Amino acid sequence: MADSAKLTLEGTEYELPIVVGSEDEKAIDISKLRDQTGYVTIDGGYKNTGSCLSSITYLDGEKGILRHRGYSIENLAEKAEFLEVAYLVIYGTLPTSNEYEEFKKGIRDHSIIHEDMRHLFDGFPSSGHPMSILSSMVCALSAYYPDCLDADPADDIHITRLLSKIRTIVAFGYKKSIGHPAMYPRNDLSYCANFMHMMFANPAEPYEADPIIVKAINTLLILHADHEQNCSTATVRLVGSSNANLYAAVSAGILALWGPLHGGANQAVIEMLQEIQDSGGDYKGFMDKVKDKSSGVRLMGFGHRVYKSYDPRAKVLKDMAAKLLPHLKVDDPLLDIAKNLEAIALEDSYFVERNLYPNVDFYSGIVYRALGIPVNMFTVMFALGRLPGWIGQWREMMRDPGKKIGRPRQIFTGENARPFVELDKR
Ligand code: ACO
Repeated sequence: MADSAKLTLEGTEYELPIVVGSEDEKAIDISKLRDQTGYVTIDGGYKNTGSCLSSITYLDGEKGILRHRGYSIENLAEKAEFLEVAYLVIYGTLPTSNEYEEFKKGIRDHSIIHEDMRHLFDGFPSSGHPMSILSSMVCALSAYYPDCLDADPADDIHITRLLSKIRTIVAFGYKKSIGHPAMYPRNDLSYCANFMHMMFANPAEPYEADPIIVKAINTLLILHADHEQNCSTATVRLVGSSNANLYAAVSAGILALWGPLHGGANQAVIEMLQEIQDSGGDYKGFMDKVKDKSSGVRLMGFGHRVYKSYDPRAKVLKDMAAKLLPHLKVDDPLLDIAKNLEAIALEDSYFVERNLYPNVDFYSGIVYRALGIPVNMFTVMFALGRLPGWIGQWREMMRDPGKKIGRPRQIFTGENARPFVELDKR
C-alpha cells in the first residue's frame, strides 16, 4: 500500500501523506495543500471529503455494516438498552453496572424542565411542526442553563441534562399539539417507559405502557443512535466548532435532520405510501414518475449517500414491523404497499444500476404509526434517537487538541472588480 500520494501541479511534484483507519479505510491528507500549492479542492456535497478522525461509528456502505465502538447495530438492537448505547457512543465503552447506575441516576435527576420553559410551549401555534418546536426548545435550554456558555467539554452536566430533558420537551410539545395537559415525568420508570408515560398517559385514567411497545421504542432509538458524518451530525460539528454551546449545536443539528432528504424522509415515506394507496395502488404510475427526472419525485426511504447495499437498520425495522403489527393487532395497508414497492424497486434496472435500497426511513414510519406516534412526529423520534450520536461527535471534537473552526473554501465565479455605477446611470 502507498504510504504517500504524489500530486503534480504546474510541473512541481508534491507528496501528500496517507491516513489509514482501523478498518483500513484510506484517505489522502490535504490539510496543508493550499499552503503548499495555492490550490484548494472542490467536492460538492463533501462526497469524498473526510472531515475528521473519529472512533465512534464504523460504516461500510458496500457491505451494509454499521458498528458503534466495534459493536454491530444488530447486536446492540437485540441486546442493549438505549441508555447503554448512549453511554457507549458518548463515552467510548459499555458502562459497568456502577457507571450505568450513576448515569441513569443523572438522567432521572434532570427529567423535569424549568417550569418557565413549560410556558414557552403556549407561544407556539398548536399546528406548529414539532421539529421547529423541538429545535427552538433545545436552543432555549442554553438560556435556562447559561453555565453552558463557558462549559468545559469534559463537564458532563449538559450532556445529562440534554439527554434527559429532550424526552420531556418532545412529550410536552405533543401534549400541547393535542390540547392535553402536560404529563410530568415519572422517575420510577425506565427512560423509554417514562417517555411513553409523558406521551400517552393522561390525568384522568391510569396508564401503563405495554412492555412490548417500550421494547420497540428502545430498539427504534438504538437504531438511530449514530451514523457518523451525516448531514445533521456534520452540522452539529460545524456549529460546535465555533465553540457555540452544546444546546445551540444540537438545535442546529435538529434543523438539518428535518429536511426530507435526511431524517424528514420518514414522514415523506408515509405520505408517499398514502398517495399510492389513494391512487388505488398505481405502482407503475408512481414508479414512472420517480424515474422521470423532470418530475422531481423520488422514491422516499430509498437510496443513501453511503449505503450501496441494504441498510442494516432497514432490515431490523422490516422484521420489527412484521412482528409488532400483529402483536398490536394493527392491520396497516401501508405495510403491504411498502413491501410491494420495495419488491418492484429491487427488480427494476433503474434502482439496481444505481444501487438504491431501502434506508432506515423506509419502514420506521410504519412502526411509529403502529405505536400511535403521529406522522409529523416521526422525525422528532429520529432526533430523540440520534441525540447520543450528536453529543458523542460534539464531545469527541471538543476534546480534540487539534480542533479547528470548520470553514470551507470556495472558488469564486462571479464578477471581477468594477466601479460602482450611480443610480441614475444604470
Ligand atoms: N429515488 C429515485 N432516484 C434516486 C433516489 C431515490 N430515492 N435516490 C437516488 N436516486 C438517483 C439519483 O437521481 C441519481 O441518479 P442519476 O445518477 O441518474 O443522476 C442517483 O440515484 C444518485 O443519487 P444522488 O442524489 O446523487 O445520491 P446522493 O448520495 O447525493 O443522495 C439521498 C442520497 C439524498 C439519500 C438520495 O438517495 C435520496 O434523495 N433519497 C430519498 C430521500 C431519503 O430517503 N432520504 C433519507 C436518507 S437516510 C437518512 O438521511 C436518515
